[in-house]
Amino acid sequence: MLEKINQVPIKFVFGKGSLKNIGGLTKAYGKRALIVTGRSSTKKTGVLDAVIGYLQDEEIDVTVFNEVESNPLTTTVKRAVALLKEQECDIVIGLGGGSPMDAAKCIAFSAVNEGDISDYIFGKEGKGALPIIAVTTTAGTGSEGDSLAVLTNPETKDKKSLKSPYIYPKVSIVDPALMMTLPASMIAATGFDALSHSVEAFLANHSRPDIEEMALEAIGLLFTFLPKVYKNPTDIESWEKVAYANTIGGIAIDQAGVVLPHGMEHPVSGLLNVTHGEGLAALFTEILEFSYKYCQEKFLRMAKVIGIKEDGITKDQVARQCVKTFEKLLKALDLQVTLGQLGVKEDHIDWLVENAMRTMTYAISNHPAPCKEEDLRALYTACL
Ligand SMILES: [Fe+2]
Repeated sequence: MLEKINQVPIKFVFGKGSLKNIGGLTKAYGKRALIVTGRSSTKKTGVLDAVIGYLQDEEIDVTVFNEVESNPLTTTVKRAVALLKEQECDIVIGLGGGSPMDAAKCIAFSAVNEGDISDYIFGKEGKGALPIIAVTTTAGTGSEGDSLAVLTNPETKDKKSLKSPYIYPKVSIVDPALMMTLPASMIAATGFDALSHSVEAFLANHSRPDIEEMALEAIGLLFTFLPKVYKNPTDIESWEKVAYANTIGGIAIDQAGVVLPHGMEHPVSGLLNVTHGEGLAALFTEILEFSYKYCQEKFLRMAKVIGIKEDGITKDQVARQCVKTFEKLLKALDLQVTLGQLGVKEDHIDWLVENAMRTMTYAISNHPAPCKEEDLRALYTACL
């Protein structure tokens, strides 16, 4: 099952109980660790204390930065880098969901590259980063499998990825036992993010056959097992499948890039700080409907892995069935939301369209259906 993960220069440590290896794995890269995490959840579940214990067993000095918010800010990264330098840390551990892992990547990068991280996000070349260890406690962003890290600039509200080969984690620990304590709403939102990554990498203009196969595997696994862990978060066998699918979905977007759902969602969560997976859920089926005519063969392939019987129906009908099947999944995950319910108003649409066109250019051009400003406006309006 793990043969596909050597697409990226990351050592993956998978499986229930794998967290206990973190001391020895970290020791190979540094002696003074900065743990980057959120304000409360890893403390509440005991995972933070467990990690500190495993590191101290290997005589690694530990400093904790626990101020990462969801949709992490460039200013938060700046504060953490000051702490890292003061404590002379030489390795950064991202512990939590996508937000702490992405923040950890940017902190490790900023420790080596002077100046404003926003300049690097918009294309300035970096020269390296401190070693990064990623420990994912959600099956969501796939950050443990990619060279991407999303930050929001609080002044401009631009929410955009740093992409750099220097921010691949040296080691990623994927321990599904850590995911069993997630609240149901978080399981649904992060799991749908993972599914969106896989679908987007599959449909992307820059995809390629091996990535398409990997993404299809992730889509099939998530359709089967995400509703199971949503209903029963203690189902560890299903978590193993969901966690693996999330990681290969991360590898897939690292290689193929995201398309319109992320291209349109980042402006929404950058402006209104909504939960990323919920923003994707609000946009997703409308975008599929808009796109399928441009990639019918891919919809046929996707239909096979999400359980649609194609016998006796036209290509058009298969694609429509795909859209309906995604709607059913969203319903099963209690994720049938609109942009309006997430706080988007008609007045925001001009800003969202301008921001998407300026900051998410790559995602829009990577989308299989040609998409102009007026298309974005129509899609945002339809999702209100
Ligand atoms: Fe995402």
